[in-house]
Amino acid sequence: MTKDEQYRELLELVKSYIEGETCEVSVLANAAALLHEAMAPRYFWTGFYMVDGEELVLGPFQGPAACYRIRLGRGVCGTAWKDKCTLVVPDVEEFPGHIACSSLSRSEIVVPLLDSNGNVKAVLDIDSCELAAFDDTDAHWLEQIAEAIAKTLY
Ligand code: SME
Repeated sequence: MTKDEQYRELLELVKSYIEGETCEVSVLANAAALLHEAMAPRYFWTGFYMVDGEELVLGPFQGPAACYRIRLGRGVCGTAWKDKCTLVVPDVEEFPGHIACSSLSRSEIVVPLLDSNGNVKAVLDIDSCELAAFDDTDAHWLEQIAEAIAKTLY
């Protein structure tokens, strides 16, 4: 199966699971589980940080324990939040201010979840133990998945 086919199936699976549910924690928890399981072992950490005032706070995730709070503009997650755009980081050591929750993470992708006014409500963060694990195909499909989740919740 190609990566496109894998993500196409995953998008439909996520949509079918979240349809009709409006509890943020429940929807994000199932989304993290579905993504992590479908992409194992390529995804090492899969989860969400939710906007809480001037910080992101750790939300539902799969993988090792992670840091609780990230300030606006800090790390990959806080930068994706501030700039309202997807960030693909092929080598976390090359990203100024990267926050290392695990020393095993080598590359990362972060996709914001926007509400109907274009405000960031949460970010989807996925880490890999491999360098350059994420490309434009991952960004394209993860943006579709993030949009479907955001449309359901926000
Ligand atoms: N590396 C992220 C922090 C979150 S962990 O990867 C789970 C960052 O720099 O924002």
